Amino acid sequence: MSDDDDNPARPAAGTPLCPLDDLADPGSRGFMYRASDQLFLGFIVRRGEAVTGFIDHCPHAGMPLAMLPDRYLTRDGDFILCTSHGALFRPGDGVCVGGPCVGKALTAWPVSVDAGVVTAG
Ligand code: FES
Repeated sequence: MSDDDDNPARPAAGTPLCPLDDLADPGSRGFMYRASDQLFLGFIVRRGEAVTGFIDHCPHAGMPLAMLPDRYLTRDGDFILCTSHGALFRPGDGVCVGGPCVGKALTAWPVSVDAGVVTAG
């Protein structure tokens, strides 16, 4: 699996992902796209009207973050949690603030909200 910009499975800019109203506040959702044998895994996080997106690849040991579908946030919704070894990331910028990779960051997957629909950037 590749998570770089050249991944052919990465959805094109402008690809609709989901209506904003489908996301809890705070809430998160994962996405998987496939192109031939390539996979793109990403997720989005909503907090209020702000939505951020990240590649689903932990900077600690490279695992996808969520063990349960769409469960990327801590129970209080304040942080993104990697369930493998407990890394905590800020939802706004993906920087790790707790756990085994403090100071490293998730790779951004730019998204935007257009007319109430979250779209890939
Ligand atoms: S792989 Fe995410 S904390 Fe270890």
